[in-house]
Amino acid sequence: MASTMRLNGKNAIVTGAGNGIGRAIAIRFAEEGATVAVAELEEDAGRETVDLIEQGGGVALFIKTDTSDSVSVNSAISATISAHGDLDLLVNNAAAFVFGKVEDVTQDDWARVFGVNVIGYANCVREVLPSMRRKGSGSIVNIASVSSFIAQPAFIPYNASKGAVAQLTRCLAMDLATDNIRVNAVCPGSIRTRATDRHIESLGLDPEKAYQEFGKDSLMKRMGKPEEIASGALFLASDDSSFMTGAQLVIDGGATID
Ligand SMILES: NC(=O)c1ccc[n+]([C@@H]2O[C@H](COP(=O)([O-])OP(=O)(O)OC[C@H]3O[C@@H](n4cnc5c(N)ncnc54)[C@H](O)[C@@H]3O)[C@@H](O)[C@H]2O)c1
Repeated sequence: MASTMRLNGKNAIVTGAGNGIGRAIAIRFAEEGATVAVAELEEDAGRETVDLIEQGGGVALFIKTDTSDSVSVNSAISATISAHGDLDLLVNNAAAFVFGKVEDVTQDDWARVFGVNVIGYANCVREVLPSMRRKGSGSIVNIASVSSFIAQPAFIPYNASKGAVAQLTRCLAMDLATDNIRVNAVCPGSIRTRATDRHIESLGLDPEKAYQEFGKDSLMKRMGKPEEIASGALFLASDDSSFMTGAQLVIDGGATID
């Protein structure tokens, strides 16, 4: 009987997979049969994701990676190929969270947020391309955000970087279609992760009240879970979305429909 696992035999690399959405994606991909490289800056967090995958019977490898550094990305891709073979799937997920009004943001802040969220995504795509071309196909999923297309108060650097991710996705889709490489984006709404915990803490808000408030933005009156974003990433990575490229899959409980 044919396997019902949607990523059977596929080889994936997921950036920022030590926490939150990236971890949920790495675990889901492994559950669906993929071998997974966890490319993560924080060693303990990345190794914990690998342990979770292995406990579930999956195959994973931790590679300490800083996606904003092209040398680090190049070694991460080489290490993945040595361990698991050529790559089929890349999920660009690692992000820097830099918020503020334009007058609050320094040049270093701008360099950091674009270095990880935009140049980091482009670094990973550039470095996986030779491998995907050897395979003759590939699927790239960029984790964008509803912040890619709406304005939010005092979110300038983050939203500008996520707007760039939306354009990066469309332009890559155009350039890579002839290589049989699809490039799509997932745009999450408010999801409860360490990043949102830190944001709430930095604002000095009561976490439970803040989560209720954030949840009210969605038509479903709750925040989303990392696993709900992982389902979207799985769809875009798998052959279930074989006629999709350059698309944005919005997963926000209806928060941005009006
Ligand atoms: N949480 C939300 O509400 C939300 C909403 C929309 C979009 N997103 C997007 O989802 C993605 C994941 O966010 P999250 O909330 O899970 O964040 P998170 O902070 O929980 O996890 C991000 C992970 O990325 C790692 N990382 C950061 N910089 C890195 C680098 N340079 N190289 C390698 N790893 C690095 C961190 O160590 C961390 O493990 C991001 O792209 C974020 O913009 C999140």
